[in-house]
Amino acid sequence: MMKLLFIGDIVGSPGREIVKDYLPRLKRKYQPTFIVANGENAANGKGITEKIVKELFEAGVQAITLGNHTWDNKEIFEFIDDQDRVIRPANFPPGTPGKGITYIKQPEGELAIINLQGRTFLPPLDCPFAKADELVEQARKRTKYIFVDFHAEVTSEKQALSWYLDGRISGLVGTHTHVQTGDERILPQGTAYLTDAGMCGPSDGILGMDREVVIKKFRTQLPVRFEVASGPTQLNGVVITLDKASGKATKIERIRIDAERPFME
Ligand SMILES: [Fe+2]
Ligand SMILES: [Fe+2]
Repeated sequence: MMKLLFIGDIVGSPGREIVKDYLPRLKRKYQPTFIVANGENAANGKGITEKIVKELFEAGVQAITLGNHTWDNKEIFEFIDDQDRVIRPANFPPGTPGKGITYIKQPEGELAIINLQGRTFLPPLDCPFAKADELVEQARKRTKYIFVDFHAEVTSEKQALSWYLDGRISGLVGTHTHVQTGDERILPQGTAYLTDAGMCGPSDGILGMDREVVIKKFRTQLPVRFEVASGPTQLNGVVITLDKASGKATKIERIRIDAERPFME
């Protein structure tokens, strides 16, 4: 049995703090073989810096996925080609810096991690289904443990890709909406699925951002500067158990820690 702990979009310093705070306890409780986190909002809500990459790796995260906010912090262009375990959506056009697949090697086995982005209500990247075909085939030559972070807005697009890949990957979990869904399941051919993992960051903002500013934006349609909210925080993620022999998922369990749902050892 092997376990993957996946942590949803880390939003700003409140998100980084709650991840660093709970990771040791999550490791004790779940004994994950692999730990992956989405870091597209880790630098003040917008992108990620190399210092934060190092901070998250030191905390125990082994690979970082990104999304539509990948390029928001310009520092990314300086390090993305040197950080082997920081990946951005694979279906950005050819020639884009960085890559969309990486591997975590542990004594028990090797996990392939693929990052893809949806195209509905998001920029028109290359086809995520075609890119998934290509990268899953590539990964399967190396390992049977394959995880996809599908960064997408729309539930149907996430469900569609999970059914399309059922039996070819160990799990697909959505990110980007910052709101955890309650539809975790294992599809018939052994692929674990959750529409969205949710985020790590302020509980009382709007998707983690200061709510006054977001409300102003909706009411006035004027340009505003989004800021990460303050106050109580939450951590959202998922643990997927994999069968060692087949690479298929045997269990998927959501993690949700906040003021109403305290962590239980
Ligand atoms: Fe996000
Ligand atoms: Fe996003």
